[in-house]
Amino acid sequence: MIIAVTNQKGGVGKTTITINLSAALAILGYRVLTIDMDPQGNSSDGMGIETNTLDDTIYDTLVNDVPLSDIILPHQLDNWAIAPANISLSGAETELASDITRPFKLRKALRSEAEKYDFVLIDSPPSLGILTVNAIVASNALLVPIEPNSYALKGMSMLMSTILKIKEDLEHYTSFLGVAVNMFDPSITLHSSVTKTITEYFTSRKVFDTIIHRSRKIPEAEMHGQHIHAYAPQDEAARHFMDLAKEVVEKNNER
Ligand SMILES: Nc1ncnc2c1ncn2[C@@H]1O[C@H](COP(=O)(O)OP(=O)(O)O)[C@@H](O)[C@H]1O
Ligand SMILES: [Mg+2]
Repeated sequence: MIIAVTNQKGGVGKTTITINLSAALAILGYRVLTIDMDPQGNSSDGMGIETNTLDDTIYDTLVNDVPLSDIILPHQLDNWAIAPANISLSGAETELASDITRPFKLRKALRSEAEKYDFVLIDSPPSLGILTVNAIVASNALLVPIEPNSYALKGMSMLMSTILKIKEDLEHYTSFLGVAVNMFDPSITLHSSVTKTITEYFTSRKVFDTIIHRSRKIPEAEMHGQHIHAYAPQDEAARHFMDLAKEVVEKNNER
């Protein structure tokens, strides 16, 4: 299963979910590849990679056709690998401008690589530009993190129209795996009501049962370049990501 973790809104947890869900799946014994498609390189940083010293990154795969296998780095956790990004990726949009195959770059790069993994997770930037389009076109499932505030639904409708456009214009169909509610705070009444609205809107089948609560350990772990299961295995968030991983596995088995 190739999962694009996407939402054009920044700060909703795309990177956090990409890292910690990848780690949970690897801990469960699945072979996982995480692809960083954000020029900010946050998921590479969060996996403990020194991004500014890298020779080749996902940029070289997208722009210079360097095979994905040449840029992939192992993680110290068994079965987990990463295709890293750094700021060079911000040049990809303009450099690919004259390339008519540009929406399909990542999809093509993954063709010979995806079969080596049980799950590929793609982190995407907070925009609906060519990098996000590449992430969606390379995927066969979408996971959309949201923060349950009043902007959540508005952002979703923009994302939905992009997905529809990709389906029509590029004839690429990717299934909607689910919305993952993140940064939930039970003491904020609005969070509960927005979560309820979202569940009704998407139907409960399309919203993960696991709700990831706000945890102060999450930003701390990221700052240390670690996933939550290594940094704070006892924290509630570690359990949430493990539960989310099990739901993803279940949905994958149902396909
Ligand atoms: N469940 C959570 N609890 C606490 N902090 C979180 C949680 N999810 C994300 N964060 C923090 O919020 C910020 C934005 O999250 P991030 O995953 O980088 O969002 P995005 O990739 O969508 O921009 C980061 O500093 C991250 O550490
Ligand atoms: Mg991010």
